[in-house]
Amino acid sequence: MKVCVIGTGYVGLVAGACFADSGNTVICVDIDKEKIEKLKKGIIPIYEPGLQEIVLKNVEKERLFFTTEIKEGVEKSDIIFIAVGTPEGEDGSADLSYVLQAARDIAKHMNGYKIIVNKSTVPVGTAEKVRKEVEKITNHPFDVVSNPEFLKEGAAVQDFLKPDRIVIGTNSEKARKIMVDLYSPFVRKKERIILMDNVSAELTKYAANSMLATRISFMNDLANLAEKVGADIEKVRIGIGTDSRIGLAFLFPGVGYGGSCFPKDVKAILKTGEEYGHKLSIIDAVERLNKEQRKIMVDRVTNFFKGDIKGKTFAIWGLSFKPNTDDMREAPAIDIIKGLVEKGAKIQAYDPVAMENAKKVFSRLGINEEITYCPKQYGALQDADALIVVTEWMEFRKPDFELIKKLMAGNTIFDGRNIYKPEQMKELGFNYFSIGRKP
Ligand code: UGA
Repeated sequence: MKVCVIGTGYVGLVAGACFADSGNTVICVDIDKEKIEKLKKGIIPIYEPGLQEIVLKNVEKERLFFTTEIKEGVEKSDIIFIAVGTPEGEDGSADLSYVLQAARDIAKHMNGYKIIVNKSTVPVGTAEKVRKEVEKITNHPFDVVSNPEFLKEGAAVQDFLKPDRIVIGTNSEKARKIMVDLYSPFVRKKERIILMDNVSAELTKYAANSMLATRISFMNDLANLAEKVGADIEKVRIGIGTDSRIGLAFLFPGVGYGGSCFPKDVKAILKTGEEYGHKLSIIDAVERLNKEQRKIMVDRVTNFFKGDIKGKTFAIWGLSFKPNTDDMREAPAIDIIKGLVEKGAKIQAYDPVAMENAKKVFSRLGINEEITYCPKQYGALQDADALIVVTEWMEFRKPDFELIKKLMAGNTIFDGRNIYKPEQMKELGFNYFSIGRKP
């Protein structure tokens, strides 16, 4: 099949590369000239395991092309994916300007029947808006399909190649058949392709992310109670997660969820609720608790130092919003570092891949002066009063604790991801604080 993907962000680039890998001819379009030039040479703008290999392979096999010319992409393709950003608008709703602009650009260059697919995360009613925009401009026949993406950053290629399910929302039989054909190579069982109408598909995406965010806020809330009553949240997590109705995934308490999706999508669905006069009380609480959870780490550190951390130095391990990505969007590390710096602390930070992006974020916040970016994991510990683990990168899981003790001025570890064992930390002589477990 001939496929065009507009937007080469996480979703667009991964989808384009994977569709090419399953034998289709794919043209990826982006307005960013520099990005496209780099992609043509196989330079990937994001850190995503496995993506470079799959891009290079398919560029070489002449199945994957990059261009800034949307005209070429539209004219040569039967299926056109819109995978542009839907950033948070000023009022918390998703900003659809890029999506609708892409729809108009597609319409201008249509030369026959096209399937226009909304792959971007878009609120309920967007398929209809896209349809109206396109209709204003062209008389060529087309269908709009809502096909939300469920891939996770850091595991994007694997998630795309082996998805749990694929949601296809459209009322057009013709479009449905073509979309099922396109996705068949990625699923072993046809039932994994779930067919529905556009609005249900749009709501499914927000429902999925809100449900996952709910599990996290629920566990963070319980973890805070566990500390008060003297329970161990890790035991509780396994105790409830082994009930097959609950399941073990996405029950890890921590410093709150971040990233480009959960925070934005949770706010966007709340906005949709508001627009339709329906208050989503549970999701509302999920968002509030997530904001509070980030503050809790700063309070915990400050309380340990009896309310005064002025002039103290903290080693931070992990800056990205989760491991295996250099993405700093809505990363809990931002609020934690900002909170500590506001109270007069100095930071020595280390992250395996997110440091360049972090520098940009903290420069915008005007606090880069207070942060030393350390090229090595252990370098960040030098004379630090405490270590704070913010992101659970693999390399932080089994560190050399003796070396940690030797390098730090203090012997305190705040573990925001519960990656160490409290008993072992005690034996090693650390003051150890984690989330929802007894110190
Ligand atoms: C999320 C969803 O998992 C994907 O299914 C979805 O496609 C994507 O959003 C999207 O809408 O594009 P992602 O943002 O890449 O994917 O990251 P997750 O792995 O879901 O993690 C999100 C945040 O939750 C991270 O900050 C992570 O540390 C946190 N988290 C996750 C927890 O605090 N506890 C957990 O048990 C799991």
